[in-house]
Amino acid sequence: MRSYLAAPASRVGGEVRVPGDKSISHRAVMLSGIAEGRSEVHGFLPSEDCLASMAAMRALGVEIEQRSPTDVSVQGVGLGGLHAAARPLDMRNAGTAMRLFTGLLAAQSFDSHLVGDASLMQRPMERVATPLRAMGADVRTRGGLPPVDITGGQRLHGIEYSMPVASAQVKSAILLAGLYADSPTTVISPAVSRDHSERMLESFGVRVVAQDLRVTVHPPQGLAAQHVEVPGDFSSAAFFIVAGLLAAGGEGLLIRAVGLNPSRAGLLEILRRMGAEIGVENQRASGAEPVADLRVHASCLRGIAVPPALVPLSIDELPVLFIAACCADGETLVTGAEELRVKESDRIAAMSAGLTVLGVEHDVLPDGLRIQGRPRGAAFTGGEIDSRGDHRIAMSFGVASLRASAPIKIRDVANVATSFPDFVALARSVGLDLHES
Ligand code: S3P
Repeated sequence: MRSYLAAPASRVGGEVRVPGDKSISHRAVMLSGIAEGRSEVHGFLPSEDCLASMAAMRALGVEIEQRSPTDVSVQGVGLGGLHAAARPLDMRNAGTAMRLFTGLLAAQSFDSHLVGDASLMQRPMERVATPLRAMGADVRTRGGLPPVDITGGQRLHGIEYSMPVASAQVKSAILLAGLYADSPTTVISPAVSRDHSERMLESFGVRVVAQDLRVTVHPPQGLAAQHVEVPGDFSSAAFFIVAGLLAAGGEGLLIRAVGLNPSRAGLLEILRRMGAEIGVENQRASGAEPVADLRVHASCLRGIAVPPALVPLSIDELPVLFIAACCADGETLVTGAEELRVKESDRIAAMSAGLTVLGVEHDVLPDGLRIQGRPRGAAFTGGEIDSRGDHRIAMSFGVASLRASAPIKIRDVANVATSFPDFVALARSVGLDLHES
């Protein structure tokens, strides 16, 4: 089993460019695959999760050429051009792939069988299956969990669906099925969730009407092939943002070309309320998505009660926010984050277990954590942490080493490659003392 050894270090600086956005990379290969003509995707994230989506599209009959790890050329087969996979589609660790492919495949003329690794086989699927069934699809789960079995050849109808949880994966699965329905499909969210699907569908020529928390997709004749520029992944940048804040002074850290979609960037607002000094420079558009360079300065943080409205906008960044909170003056309270319990691991339990090992005073809530920060001296002791096979838990505790009094060993880190294959090299390049063994 792979581990990290993260030794205390405090100087962080220089410049870094994080790899492409995971959410956008999944969607880029999927939409390119069902478009008419050849699409080019630049800045694709060649991580295990996104490669699982690429492998699934190939298994469904789409020709995909990876000209370099990050440049992908996709020969679209059109909306009706996919065909049955010869074997079960293995989504590995990728919840996004599992949910989005369920939506896409529910609308096809053939049957599909979707499986994943041990973690993915424990993640809830009824949240996707229920609305798809309401559209007329035949989708079966095993007690709410994968494997997912789809019987093709169903006629789908547009629906208006109010989601019980603010989930971009559920919303996107329904929108993908809605491409094939006989009338428009509307999804209503209880709170904002990432809108990459809406933006990318529009850029492929689909009529999507989004207003407040409502989005409607109009079934198109076809999708037009595109050039997709994938911005840097804000969720990967988050580890470097917190590292820059926890550093001991210095010139600051420049993180280039980070996707700053407002439905993703809640962490910036939370950290600013905690006193973080983060400059946003060179704002520009990268295709359908906003992008900027972030200049992060070492900052004295103070604890806050995180407004629950910001939680869905920072859901993947909360593990590393907890690390920042441990180094802030006073108490930080995060509530309304019960979705953390059904991610790649139960992230509330996994973070709590690690914080206990590292001597951080905190309380576990059903939907979050209350953390007592230690702003002066070392916020963490050393110790041995179990990442529970969760990439974001592993990377978060790597960042904690910047304020640790002794080395932190982090077990079970191989899954960092699901989202951030070069994490160790990039972390070392800015000053972290991280080794993998
Ligand atoms: C994602 C949506 C989020 C997020 C996940 C990626 C996506 O999940 O946590 O990492 O690409 O749509 P939910 O939709 O379950 O909130």
